[in-house]
Amino acid sequence: MLDRFGRKITYLRMSVTEQCNLRCRYCMPADSACDVSCRGMADDMNGCFLKNGESCSAGECTGIGSGFLTQDEMITAVRAAASLGISKVRITGGEPLVRNDIIRICDRTTAVEGVDEVCITTNGLILTKYAEELSRAGVKHINVSLDTLEKDRYAYMTRSEAFGPETVLEGIEAALAAGFEKVKINTVLINGFNTDEIEDLAELTRKYPVDLRFIELMPMIKGAFGPEAYISADEVIKRLKNLEKAPDDGVARMFRLPGAKGGIGLISPVSAHFCAECNRLRLTADGRLKPCLHSKEEYSVKGLDEAGMRARMEEAILAKPEKHPKLAFDSLSEAGRSMNRIGG
Ligand code: 5AD
Ligand code: SF4
Repeated sequence: MLDRFGRKITYLRMSVTEQCNLRCRYCMPADSACDVSCRGMADDMNGCFLKNGESCSAGECTGIGSGFLTQDEMITAVRAAASLGISKVRITGGEPLVRNDIIRICDRTTAVEGVDEVCITTNGLILTKYAEELSRAGVKHINVSLDTLEKDRYAYMTRSEAFGPETVLEGIEAALAAGFEKVKINTVLINGFNTDEIEDLAELTRKYPVDLRFIELMPMIKGAFGPEAYISADEVIKRLKNLEKAPDDGVARMFRLPGAKGGIGLISPVSAHFCAECNRLRLTADGRLKPCLHSKEEYSVKGLDEAGMRARMEEAILAKPEKHPKLAFDSLSEAGRSMNRIGG
C-alpha cells in the first residue's frame, strides 16, 4: 500500500516482547525489568531481568497476561499486513529469543502467504541455542547487536555482568554455521565508549562473512547520554582507511575493507534522516502500530480480527508523517517509549 507521500509500505517490524536479558543504556531505563508476569508469553523464559536484579528462570512466570498481543494475534497482524502488500517482516524485541515460543512465531510468520522475507534482530546471547531452529523455520536474515569487544565495556553498556562479547561472537558463529543468507552485526556508535574500537570491530568483517553496520546513537532515553556521546557515521569513514564503496543495502550506505568477507555499513538516523525512503510500519508487543518511530502517534490492533487489524493498518499507513522532527540530544525523540518497548 502507498502512503500519502507515495511511499510503498512493504516492511513490518514486529516486536514480540518488551523483555530482554540485557538492559542497554541507550535502549531502556535502568529500572526496566519484568514485573514477574510473562504478559502474553509462554512460561519458560530465557533469563529476562527481574526487578530484584536476578534473571528469570522457568516456572517463575505466571503466564498469559492482558494487554500484550497473543501469538495468534501477532500472526493475524502479519496476515493483515501481508494483505496490504507487506512482504518483509522483522521480528524484534526487547530480545525476541527470550520467548520460548519464538520458533513457533517464526514458523507461523514465514508461512503467511505474501511474506517472502522474515528476519530477526537479537542480542545474540542465546543464539547458539536457537540458530539452527530459526534457520529451519525459514528466517533468512539475522541481525546481532554488538557494541564492544571488551568485556568490562559490555558489562557497563548492557548493565549486566552475566554475559560478555564472547557469548555474542559464539552466537554469530552459530548463525553462520546454521546457514542464514545474511548475518549482520549492528553496532551503535557511542563517542568515547566504543569509538576507539571502530577498527577492531571492522576487522570482524575480515574474520567472518558478516556485514558490520555502525548505527548513529538516537536520543531515546532521557539522561542516558549527553550530546558528547553522539558521533556521526561519517566519522567512521575517516577512521577506516582504504574503504572501498560497495552497493548500498536499504538504509545502510555500504563499504568494504579490501579483501574482507563482509561489508561495512553506515546507518545515519540522526545525521541523514531516511524518511523519504521509509517503507516501514512498526507493531509493538502491546499491539500498537507506530506509523513513525519518532512520533507518539499509535493505533491499537489488540483484540481486533484480521479485517479490523487491516483497517487499522491502513489508517496507520495513511498517518505516516512525511518526516520526523530533527533529532537532537537536547530534545529527545518524541517516540514516547524506550526502544525495548518499540522494537530495536
Ligand atoms: N540508538 C540507536 N540504535 C538503537 N537501538 C536501540 N536503541 C537505540 C538507540 N538509542 C538499536 C540498536 C540495537 C538494536 C536492538 O536496536 O541497533 O542493536
Ligand atoms: Fe536488549 Fe537489544 Fe535493548 Fe540491548 S538494545 S537492552 S540487547 S533490546
